[in-house]
Amino acid sequence: MSATRIAAAKAAAAHAHAPYSKFGVGTALLLADGSVVTGCNFENASYGLTLCAETVALGTLNALGKLDKVREVAVIGGTLTGGAIAGDAICFPCGRCRQVLNEAAQMAHTDLLIHCASADGLQVRTLKLSELLPHPFGPADLGLA
Ligand code: THU
Repeated sequence: MSATRIAAAKAAAAHAHAPYSKFGVGTALLLADGSVVTGCNFENASYGLTLCAETVALGTLNALGKLDKVREVAVIGGTLTGGAIAGDAICFPCGRCRQVLNEAAQMAHTDLLIHCASADGLQVRTLKLSELLPHPFGPADLGLA
């Protein structure tokens, strides 16, 4: 059920370091054993160095040695107000994050389910990564299985 993952992602978004955009994003990665790894965006005064929530969460997953364990992903984003996110528009992963998600998907040998939500939780779209990123660049392009 995606609601609990989305709630975990929303809780992570409250920790976003986003003083420039004031747009918080949270991600929750659901692993095969039911555990969850989260991340939030981490902005930088040199704007282009900003790390997205999905990339932060996937970096943590990698540090745990569990890239191959991810099965589903929740992404939620909205305007940061009073330590929480707000808004009614669905937040979809950016293009770069879709490609980073593909790296974990390749290691997990699965087409990840991505739950994309609005901050108010009223709108959720669940898509496969292959729908969000139909023609990824992956290991096969480098001659690897
Ligand atoms: N952001 C994410 O964290 N993930 C995305 O997929 C899209 C954008 C962040 C980056 C930046 O801190 C803020 O949202 C506004 O672009």
